Amino acid sequence: MTDQADHLRNLVSQGKRRILRTIAISSGKGGVGKTSITTNLGIMLAQMRKKVVIVDADMGLANIDVLLRLQTKYNLQHIIDGEKRIDEVVIDGPGGIKIIPSASGAQLLTQLTSEQRERFISEFSIFEGNVDYLLIDTAAGISPNVTEFILAAGEVLVVTTPDPTAITDAYALIKIITRYSDNMKIGLFVNMASDAAEAQEVENNLKLVTERFLHTRIEGMGYMLRDRQVSDAVKKQVSFVLHNPSCPASSCIKALASRLSNFCSHDNSKTLVKFAEKITESIK
Ligand SMILES: Nc1ncnc2c1ncn2[C@@H]1O[C@H](COP(=O)(O)OP(=O)(O)O)[C@@H](O)[C@H]1O
Ligand SMILES: [Mg+2]
Repeated sequence: MTDQADHLRNLVSQGKRRILRTIAISSGKGGVGKTSITTNLGIMLAQMRKKVVIVDADMGLANIDVLLRLQTKYNLQHIIDGEKRIDEVVIDGPGGIKIIPSASGAQLLTQLTSEQRERFISEFSIFEGNVDYLLIDTAAGISPNVTEFILAAGEVLVVTTPDPTAITDAYALIKIITRYSDNMKIGLFVNMASDAAEAQEVENNLKLVTERFLHTRIEGMGYMLRDRQVSDAVKKQVSFVLHNPSCPASSCIKALASRLSNFCSHDNSKTLVKFAEKITESIK
């Protein structure tokens, strides 16, 4: 009994070694809610005692900082260029999350010099063992700038709305992912649904076509209702999970956060160093 207590105390005092999971949050079409979902999911996971770092990888529109009214000084490019260390670039977000701001017009990660690549890998490796979730908020679409981040992650959450153009673009994105990687775990999240039945229908239809035409199984990860609290929070530059924990959208994010632990592959080989190595490899 004493032995066990000592063992537990040791574990606590040494701090638990965390297994890092990298999840890209992506979409074919823009404006489907990726940034709102990523930031609020991150805050929800932090409330579940997880350590969360969000990488704002939308090079075109740097927007997590705007969404949460944060002051940023440095970004991803400063790390790549060796001008700043990663701890100088990471900023504290609300609810205990950490954020690496994006650089508008940043260099393509596939075009780094070997020196930049080494630096990127060694800087990112400081999160190894200390962080549970690295959430990557990507830009929309299927350009190399987006896919390189997705392919480097262990899992991808594809966000769509019930809008037919968003569904078509989500399918195109899934098709690109499966072309480059045959073992990527792909989750689907339906945002701005009017009810659960509508979200289920979107999920069923996409599952059907991806199985039939791409021979790929995607995993339904739930949905978020269209909820004024989400757009109001964006206008006020706050998190709805923090400011309105009982609104329908917050319940949907809570369900997503709970599902994530099963969705993640629990594959120890998917470490952050691997992520950084993969991300800087050229896509052939
Ligand atoms: N579930 C929702 N209900 C209502 N409005 C939403 C919802 N999700 C997103 N929005 C609105 O859509 C806009 C785009 O969301 P955002 O997260 O910036 O999308 P993306 O990052 O995919 O471009 C936001 O300004 C927000 O007002
Ligand atoms: Mg966004």
